[in-house]
Amino acid sequence: MGAIAAASSLKPAYSSQRSRPIPFGSAARTQFIEADGQYRDSLLQYCSRLTPEIEFKWDQIEPRQGQFSFEAADTVANFARDHGKEIYGHTLLWHRSMPPWLPDHLRETRDWSTVTGHIGRMVGRYAGVRYWDVVNEPVDTGFRGDGLRPSVFLDCFGADYIAMALQAAWAASPGAELLINEYGLEYDLTVEHDRRYHFLRLLERLKKGGAPIGGIGLQAHLDLRKGPVSQAAISSFLKEIRNLGLFVFVTELDVTEADYVRPAAERDAMVGAEVARYLDVVCDFEDLRGVATWGLTDRYSWLGLPPEEVEAYKQHGYWRDGTSPGFNRGLPLDTDLRPKPFLDALKAHGVGQF
Ligand code: XIL
Repeated sequence: MGAIAAASSLKPAYSSQRSRPIPFGSAARTQFIEADGQYRDSLLQYCSRLTPEIEFKWDQIEPRQGQFSFEAADTVANFARDHGKEIYGHTLLWHRSMPPWLPDHLRETRDWSTVTGHIGRMVGRYAGVRYWDVVNEPVDTGFRGDGLRPSVFLDCFGADYIAMALQAAWAASPGAELLINEYGLEYDLTVEHDRRYHFLRLLERLKKGGAPIGGIGLQAHLDLRKGPVSQAAISSFLKEIRNLGLFVFVTELDVTEADYVRPAAERDAMVGAEVARYLDVVCDFEDLRGVATWGLTDRYSWLGLPPEEVEAYKQHGYWRDGTSPGFNRGLPLDTDLRPKPFLDALKAHGVGQF
């Protein structure tokens, strides 16, 4: 170890003093990688990790039982490999990406091997993937005392299904780092307070039971209608995470806007400021393994209406500034792939290398 590296390792691992940048990535879509060279170039320029936005989900992989469709998943995986990028594995079990045949099948058979089959197939096929979101969004408030989200997995296999899924992923790839990915943890709202509490309790139970969980994914879908983020709440939540010995990933950072009427520059500044407030706290977490945004550019944003749809509304006279939802400017690059204050906030917090 050189003198400089040795000296910096003595410092606290706060963002500004990290010796290396926090790896940056984004959700990416095969469809646009294939169709849009500018988009492809931007992914390569800014990201060291790519998260397949839909391609790894069970409904995409096995639309009919026993009939597999790996093309789109392979395309994004090969794109990453060919360009020296890492793939972040998202996601093995999610109540919203079940193929249509799955719920009835599980209710009829209670056959856990259907689930382990899927997990083993994905983890085995994409064996180079280091991080996997094993269960996505398992917590929901207001239903049960244990805070678990009602789902077909919970109905058929009981509360242990989360530990069992982690075990299955571990068995298929003992070297992989396994995560639970969750949303709605950033604001000083009763519902988010409850979610933080239930998520922590779940993680505590998993750790006590010896489940092979390494870390958590924080989706971080920020929302200016709820904002600003509560730095105090996030910071005390992260203290608990550290006490549990877990690492952290920011997996799906983006910002829903509250005001679509102001000039673009003002909107972009408000988005950037919310991102900065969030990163101020999260980048202080020592074992932060990466930050990913849920999309790199407003050109292909999953938030709000796509720009061309807004244009169509305008042309047909249905558009009303101030009441229409508008297209969202909540990602790092605009529709022309130009950097916005969001990207500056990442940079200022030591996220990415650009
Ligand atoms: C979303 C995709 O962005 C959409 O294109 C798709 O139709 C539905 O899923 N939380 C998650 C992601 O964990 O998988 C979701 O992605 C967004 C919310």
